[in-house]
Amino acid sequence: MCGIVGYIGHRQAAGVLLEGLSKLEYRGYDSAGICVHTPQALAVSRSKGRLQTLREKCDSGADLPGTLGIGHTRWATHGAPSDCNAHPHRTRDGKIALVHNGIIENYLELKEELLSRGHRFTSETDTEVAACLLGENYAKTGDMLCAIVATTARLTGSYALGILCLDQPDRMYAVRKDSPLILGWGDNECLIASDAPAILGYTRRVIYPADGDIAILTDQSIQIFNALGNPVLRPTEEVQWSVADAELGDYPHFMLKEIMEQPRVLTDTAAAPLTGNSDCANSLLLDPEQIRNLRRIYIAACGSAYHVGFLGKYILEKYCRIPTESIQASEFRYAAPILDQNTLVILISQSGETADTLAALREAKAQGAHTLAIVNVMGSAIAKAADEVIYTCAGPEIAVATTKAYSAQLAVMYRLALRFARLLETQSQEDIRQAEDALLDLPRQIGQVLLPEGIGQMRTLADRFHACEDIFFIGRNVDAVTCLEGSLKLKELSYIHAEAYPAGELKHGPISLIEEGVPVIALATVRELFHKTMANVKEVKARGATVICLTTEEFAEEARRTADVVVEVPKVHPLLQPSVNIVPLQLFSYFTALNRGCDVDKPRNLAKSVTVE
Ligand code: G6P
Repeated sequence: MCGIVGYIGHRQAAGVLLEGLSKLEYRGYDSAGICVHTPQALAVSRSKGRLQTLREKCDSGADLPGTLGIGHTRWATHGAPSDCNAHPHRTRDGKIALVHNGIIENYLELKEELLSRGHRFTSETDTEVAACLLGENYAKTGDMLCAIVATTARLTGSYALGILCLDQPDRMYAVRKDSPLILGWGDNECLIASDAPAILGYTRRVIYPADGDIAILTDQSIQIFNALGNPVLRPTEEVQWSVADAELGDYPHFMLKEIMEQPRVLTDTAAAPLTGNSDCANSLLLDPEQIRNLRRIYIAACGSAYHVGFLGKYILEKYCRIPTESIQASEFRYAAPILDQNTLVILISQSGETADTLAALREAKAQGAHTLAIVNVMGSAIAKAADEVIYTCAGPEIAVATTKAYSAQLAVMYRLALRFARLLETQSQEDIRQAEDALLDLPRQIGQVLLPEGIGQMRTLADRFHACEDIFFIGRNVDAVTCLEGSLKLKELSYIHAEAYPAGELKHGPISLIEEGVPVIALATVRELFHKTMANVKEVKARGATVICLTTEEFAEEARRTADVVVEVPKVHPLLQPSVNIVPLQLFSYFTALNRGCDVDKPRNLAKSVTVE
């Protein structure tokens, strides 16, 4: 769960690397380092802490002159964040330097072996073991490609590696297996990176290497070899994202920028084709017969994407009448899911590289299920491995806590449900048309929530409640799921203890935690359940809670009679209401975190892409 970047060309590499790492900090930010090929040595600067500390340490790169280099931003897995565990790692003879994203699972066994042959280590990392093994193989053959082939053959686990060799000032090596890596071609320069934003300032022409590929990059060329060292051809593609997409612009934080981008993202996602890289002839999305044969759908995902999956369960069962289970991807393999060729497994992932979601996908495929991925990042592992993919059009999401990608995933879920409902005829054509029209109007309605007045109300609420220690979220039906997402957002950003419960479950335990002044955010936007939820609001009021009720204009007046504060949101088609409801909760989390002095874009202990299980 780290970010790697590499550069070879005509510019000073250190500046390019530091700039690239700043775009990858969302992947990890507990230490960072760069290595530049200088005439005398592979010069390294590494530092615990944020990238800024490294910048200061190496005088913004001026201490490391040279036009070839690699860099790394770390989220510690093996060994605590420290200067010596930070990458790049060099062999003891200083000949090879390496950056790594992923986990070498058999590193202890390899380390024992290397120790017995007299090697010594300066860090606790799995990466230094890989560097050492590579150094040993290079010393034997003097051929880097052969040495990389021999080394990767011994590694189990996942890795994207950027490699420099002191003897070879004109080239950089890169390898990937189960960890993301893109190769970029510029004019007289080439780059490697874990994600596109790091290289967009130089090029949009990229190659997505396949699993096991080894690349040799010079300033003029990219050659690719398979894991056995045989040359292979990979297509060059164009990244759709622009430099500005990954820049802050006038916003103080990426999170606010991304919240504000949601109307645009919804417009783009609603207009995009519903099939991505699938072989259309066999697309389940186009074949009513296959859909009719579906006995069950599973939706597997992590974090916020799991909440989209949970909403998907409600939506697909209600509108399409297909039995649907939503499950956290980390549990999928161990829950003995019942899978066969009449099962559809939907995987949802912004990054397309979450380890547990990828593992769930592999399990589903191994058991013969049809797999469909809803992914934001093109060329990502999950997008490549699934039978079909639908891309969300969220653009690059930089803030660790997702907002716009969540909204885009949800929009895809609506479209999927409407497609199934149309083909299965579980809804009338007129009802489906109405919902589709409403989806097109959704960006405007979300724009209403994002007017200064709406934002101001959430800022005021955050001012009032930011010092509290506990917050509860309650709601029924799809509102209960939005509560889960609202409470996750609040806890990950502000570190306030936040819990979400279906309102009807309160009496079965959590109500014992309600006492004088405890804030309860009650979502009451499901029309037929409004009065039931308000009955639960009365229960917590009777025990001293301060209630903030989020409801539609239809019920706002009535809610005001019981709740302390009412947040009024536009009433939209019931299918789409969750998309509107989450926006004020995102804003509340954002402002609360700011009031508490938290780093909203990089909350403690969290990384955006979780590539370890
Ligand atoms: C992390 C992020 C979440 C995200 C989850 C799943 O926990 O902080 O915002 O929802 O990973 O990530 P994915 O890339 O698979 O959607």
